[in-house]
Amino acid sequence: MKQVYIGVYGCQMNISDAERMEGQLRTIGYERTVVMEDADLILLNTCCVRETAEDKVYGKIGEIKHLKQQKPNMIFGITGCMAQKESDRLIKRAPHIDFVLGTNKVHELAHVVQELEQEHGHIIDTQLGETELPDDVPVARGGRLSAWVPIMYGCNNFCTYCIVPYVRGRERSRMPEDIVREVEQAVEQGYKEVTLLGQNVNSYGKDHGRADFADLLSMVDAVPGIRRVRFMTSHPKDLSDRVIAAIRDGAHICEHIHLPVQYGSNKILKAMNRVYTVEQYKALVQRIRAALPHVSLTTDLIVGFPGETEEDFDEMLGFLREIRYDSAYTFIYSKRSGTPAAVMDHQVEEAVKKDRLNRLMAVQNEISLEINQSLQDQIMEVMVEGPSKQDETVWTGRTRTNKIVLFPHAEEQPGDFISIQITHPQTWVLKGRQI
Ligand code: SAH
Ligand code: SF4
Ligand code: F3S
Repeated sequence: MKQVYIGVYGCQMNISDAERMEGQLRTIGYERTVVMEDADLILLNTCCVRETAEDKVYGKIGEIKHLKQQKPNMIFGITGCMAQKESDRLIKRAPHIDFVLGTNKVHELAHVVQELEQEHGHIIDTQLGETELPDDVPVARGGRLSAWVPIMYGCNNFCTYCIVPYVRGRERSRMPEDIVREVEQAVEQGYKEVTLLGQNVNSYGKDHGRADFADLLSMVDAVPGIRRVRFMTSHPKDLSDRVIAAIRDGAHICEHIHLPVQYGSNKILKAMNRVYTVEQYKALVQRIRAALPHVSLTTDLIVGFPGETEEDFDEMLGFLREIRYDSAYTFIYSKRSGTPAAVMDHQVEEAVKKDRLNRLMAVQNEISLEINQSLQDQIMEVMVEGPSKQDETVWTGRTRTNKIVLFPHAEEQPGDFISIQITHPQTWVLKGRQI
């Protein structure tokens, strides 16, 4: 067997694409290794959503240069969003890269690798367009309990800070029957949980009209043997009451919505082209909480967007205290060339951004801890995952609301569903004991 090392950066979509890359490579004699030095083929499946993501990849590309000098027959390729964005510039900058494959070309990977096995050279294919990831691309799934299932590709929203629509192309939804079949297969293979993936799952099906996201949720919920259905990401502008009802009525659809608000003031939301107001967002959260009283809500937040003032920032802190998210991913605005925000006036200074990020995280951490403390003594259903990294006698699992739970291990096995009483809630994890 030949060995492939796959470095994966960025979001779940990239993890899912990497599973489809590995699946194809298995059919041409590769197995995955975690030791880069052993590899006959190195792939970096990259992200360019922020500059820091790109810096990491450039660092890795530099490291691989020495390896390539020692092993000239080793094949080195770049895939994913940075491949799409930089295309041939990557090979100009680092000629030890053998191929660059864009985000719409995942299914071409085995073919490209076989070509390079026959004959050395450079291959660049980053055409963005009609080509689809076919539904029959083999998948080598990473975990054994949770399966990623892409339901759509691309994004139409063009938030002014974001590079994703430029590197992933327009929205394309998979056919509902293909998605359901993939979920059925995952369940047959022993998976208990699926996460339906898309940049904006709530606009699923708008292109083909065969089913909308609410329909799809109900169809996946009805797959025999499925225990948990998750989904991300939800754009607030498209989350319909039908979707809320489908979550409420589904037996296996988890009460967790990742509903990125990005910012907590109308001025900045407008500049970001998020298309909703703070008032509309709050009304949506009210509708969600009325239908799903135990829902957990999480969000993404960006500080330091061009034009952000201290007043805007204070307004956002007030907004957070009002909404009370279970947790938040917080980011410093990163200028992405080619996006409208990159050329906006009043870019915020780096030091100010960092200071605001710290203050934002402090407020959010306080809220996360308070919410978790309110779960003291409650009994929650936990899907057992396995031993924790620090201590083999302590195992981890997750609640339906996607909170990590730590508990002393007894007899339970990965994939078991158990009841845990929360004894020590903390900011990031809940500690408890089985009852
Ligand atoms: N489609 C998803 C997420 C896409 S990227 C959504 O709309 O929510 C993941 C997160 O990265 C975004 O939610 C946003 O918070 C952040 N992000 C995107 N572009 C960014 C930029 N230029 N600088 C900082 N954070 C950014
Ligand atoms: Fe980026 Fe906005 Fe699309 Fe999300 S919805 S991927 S933030 S453009
Ligand atoms: Fe990054 Fe591409 Fe995902 S830019 S966040 S890997 S869609």
